[in-house]
Amino acid sequence: MQQDSSAWRQSPAPSAAGKASPSSAFASFRLGASRFFQPKPLSPAEKKQANAELNILPDASVDSFVSYLKDHNCRKIVVMTGAGISTAAGIPDFRSPDTGLYANLAKYNLPYPEAVFSINYFRKSPKPFFTLAKELYPGCFRPTLSHYFIRVLAEEGMLLRCYTQNIDTLERVAGISDSHIVEAHGSFASARCVGRHPRIAESSGEETAWSDNESDDSDYAAIQESDYRACGREYSQEWVKDHVFNDKVPECTYCQGIVKPNITFFGESLPNRFHAMAGADLAVADALIVIGTSLKVHPFAGLINKVQPNVPRLLINMEVVGEEGSPHRGFDFTGEVQEYRRDALFLGSADAGCEKLAEMLGLSEKLHALMTDEHAKIDLAASLVVDGVEVATIVDEGAKVVDDADVAEKVTTEVEVAEIEDALRSVKL
Ligand code: OAD
Repeated sequence: MQQDSSAWRQSPAPSAAGKASPSSAFASFRLGASRFFQPKPLSPAEKKQANAELNILPDASVDSFVSYLKDHNCRKIVVMTGAGISTAAGIPDFRSPDTGLYANLAKYNLPYPEAVFSINYFRKSPKPFFTLAKELYPGCFRPTLSHYFIRVLAEEGMLLRCYTQNIDTLERVAGISDSHIVEAHGSFASARCVGRHPRIAESSGEETAWSDNESDDSDYAAIQESDYRACGREYSQEWVKDHVFNDKVPECTYCQGIVKPNITFFGESLPNRFHAMAGADLAVADALIVIGTSLKVHPFAGLINKVQPNVPRLLINMEVVGEEGSPHRGFDFTGEVQEYRRDALFLGSADAGCEKLAEMLGLSEKLHALMTDEHAKIDLAASLVVDGVEVATIVDEGAKVVDDADVAEKVTTEVEVAEIEDALRSVKL
């Protein structure tokens, strides 16, 4: 129920003689008093007490969020993920104080940590990125429970889309279909020539050392995009990986520009797929789950504001992020700032949060069976790496496999051959 304060604002009727009549005196008293007794506008929290419909969720608990999913039969959930969903796979995140990548880049002598993902810095000094890329290259890690939870949501027909900032491709490895994934910061799956800093181009391929005192902006202010002479030629993941694992910077065979995996660096646009899909997806989403991200990087972070104002949102993260204290932006876990109370919080690991969601949705058994099965396939495929080289040949003739005796011993049935093929397909993505 909302109070109507209009009666307090009516003007008094003027008296015929221009003199104050008792009634007009009272009216002026009322007018004067109204200046003092204007009812205070209701705070968002008070409005919610007065109007139950503004409470999309009764509180910020996961239980309330899951009840909403069930009661409203949500089938268009958007999941947004960041590095926190992959730390359990052994991949560090970026910004955690001691363990994050940015806290451990001293050996690269960067002018500032994010430079390793800056397009301008990369064109001038690509080695730090490729050294790091060698450690992060997809194919060496198993997806986490959180990745498989997202796949289960998809298989249950509840997932509209998964927007990920991660470049580790573990969503794909987990078997989430391409149509369900938007890799907002690109991935290692393809690569292209992005040219190189003109100063390096003139110095016949020799890299110019980066001075610690040199500021990124001052160095590049005068350089136009066209000066980088990028031909944009496409290269395969395998071609780039081959260079990276042999400690060579991949150079374009046509123009000697540097070939960069299609990961979105600072200073580059996000992939077209992100721009083409994000607006429409978020506008129709019926729930949002944000997992394992600091929400520090835009435009990705801004997606949480694109769902309708009455659509519930859940954050699963080690720390509270994304609270802006604004009536229109960011999370509002207290329900005291924004018009609707609709934000829930699970403070803890991504896997623990997803485990809880799965349990409450009755999907726990399916999730664990799927993960066990998929991990077994990945382990089996990994066991076929002999002396660090992936077994590339699998002959689909009964029990026969490959050109290595060790491996042949491990594979005895047609079923296993088929399983290995599947596993190799997924880990080689
Ligand atoms: P960040 O490192 O910025 O944030 C990771 C968040 O996950 C932090 O809030 C951690 O507390 C949390 N976290 C860590 N481990 C977790 C776990 N096991 N469970 C739950 N939460 C956990 O990573 P992103 O937000 O993904 O850009 O970073 C965004 C972008 O910044 C990246 O895509 C990358 C980087 O610069 C590019 O590569 C272009």
